[in-house]
Amino acid sequence: MRKKKIEIIFKEYSDIKELPDKEQNLIYAARKTVKKAYAPYSKFKVGAALLMEDDSIITGNNQENASSPVGSCAERTAIYWANANFPEKKILAIAVTSLDKEGEKAKHLSPCGLCRQTLMETQQRFSSPIKVFIDNRDQILEIPDIESLLPLSFSNTSLQ
Ligand code: THU
Repeated sequence: MRKKKIEIIFKEYSDIKELPDKEQNLIYAARKTVKKAYAPYSKFKVGAALLMEDDSIITGNNQENASSPVGSCAERTAIYWANANFPEKKILAIAVTSLDKEGEKAKHLSPCGLCRQTLMETQQRFSSPIKVFIDNRDQILEIPDIESLLPLSFSNTSLQ
C-alpha cells in the first residue's frame, strides 16, 4: 500500500486590479452577464465568461426551469454555446461570478460537479488547460486548470 497525496495550487487576489487587463475584462464580462440570468426559483444568479483563443469573450448565465433538473448552470450554458458555434476554438479561461437575492456575491462560489465534468471534457478536447477565475465576495481565486478541480476524474482515457 502506498499513500498518495494530490495537492492543488491556486492564486488568491484581494483586488481585481491585481490581474492583467485581459483577465479583468473577462471577470467584468461575467459580472455583466450575471444580471441577465433566469433564476426565479433559487434567486441565485450565476454568470460565466469564457476567454477564447482569439481573445473574444463568450458569456452565459444560469437558466432555471420549474422542473428543476432541466435548468442549466451558467458555466454549461456558456461552454455548450461556445462549442456549438465555434467547435475549433480553444477556451483558455472561464470566469464565474454570482449574485444572491440580496444582490451579494457568494462567499465561496464554486463550479458544480456537472460543470467540472463538462469543463474537463472541453479541456481534453482541445488539449489545452482552461484556467478558472472564481469571483467571490471578498477575493478572486485563480485555479490553473480543470484537473485541479476534478482530480482522478472519469474521462475519455477511462474509455480506452
Ligand atoms: N449554479 C450555476 O449556474 N453555477 C454554479 O457554479 C453553481 C450553481 C446555479 C444552478 C442554479 O440555477 C442556481 O445556481 C442555484 O443552485
